[in-house]
Amino acid sequence: MGALLEVKQVWKEYGSSIVLEKLNLTVKEGEFCTIVGTSGCGKTTFLRMLLGQEGPSRGTLLLDGKPMPAEPGPDRGIVFQRYSVFPHMSVLDNVTFGLEVTRSRLLGRLFGGARRKAREEAAAMLAQVGLGHALERYPSELSGGMQQRLAIAQALIKKPRILLLDEPFGALDPGIRADMHALVLKLWKESGLTIFMITHDLKEGFKLGTRLLVFDKPRLDAQAPNRYGATITYDLAIGRDEPALLDEIQGAVTETSRFIHDSR
Ligand SMILES: Nc1ncnc2c1ncn2[C@@H]1O[C@H](COP(=O)(O)OP(=O)(O)O)[C@@H](O)[C@H]1O
Ligand SMILES: [Mg+2]
Repeated sequence: MGALLEVKQVWKEYGSSIVLEKLNLTVKEGEFCTIVGTSGCGKTTFLRMLLGQEGPSRGTLLLDGKPMPAEPGPDRGIVFQRYSVFPHMSVLDNVTFGLEVTRSRLLGRLFGGARRKAREEAAAMLAQVGLGHALERYPSELSGGMQQRLAIAQALIKKPRILLLDEPFGALDPGIRADMHALVLKLWKESGLTIFMITHDLKEGFKLGTRLLVFDKPRLDAQAPNRYGATITYDLAIGRDEPALLDEIQGAVTETSRFIHDSR
């Protein structure tokens, strides 16, 4: 099986400021990549390139061996730290709407049976993320954890192959975050999704991922911070079931946290 995603010598520049440089990465279907790195080093920019919201300035991004489409598509879903759900729509309508938008592009506006079917699928998705009891509530009536469950349901209803998570649990209490970890792992295992998840919590990165990517600037110019871009400085396979690798991973954790700390 070929790679799902190939990133070859990718650079991202805005004017004269270099955000990312020389990114190289190959990811197979079903991998769960967690991403850490200091604030402002280009992690969100990278996810936006995977989403198709931004194109690379140089280099190649391939999805299934073909150039990454220049716009977001239903095969890629994204969840942000604070997702903009529609405040005037109920939980059920928020998720149904995503499905209707996608389908009406193909079929025209949905009526009758097609509409009912979309609502049933949305309700089933909401049950899967633990919101089956809250279908008629409005976003303002939901806790932070429930809002993120809603955002995940919204992203997953279009059956994406790639799920992009940008610090999705950063604003949640630790207890709730543990529930969300269980949810994401469950959805990942059941669906065969490929996940990219940015986190500022290295432990979270190690707990959830099969692979940890560290973004950092290997070269720094104090006079001109944007003269050099960040790149992937560590790419670790997380062998949860391989105790032999544990020491190596532990060593990397310590080293990684030290340099993340030092560069703040
Ligand atoms: N559209 C844009 N135009 C100009 N600069 C941008 C744009 N988007 C992001 N940047 C810059 O790129 C850098 C990386 O931003 P970002 O990807 O959000 O970092 P991170 O998610 O790692 O905190 C920042 O310096 C930011 O100001
Ligand atoms: Mg960011």
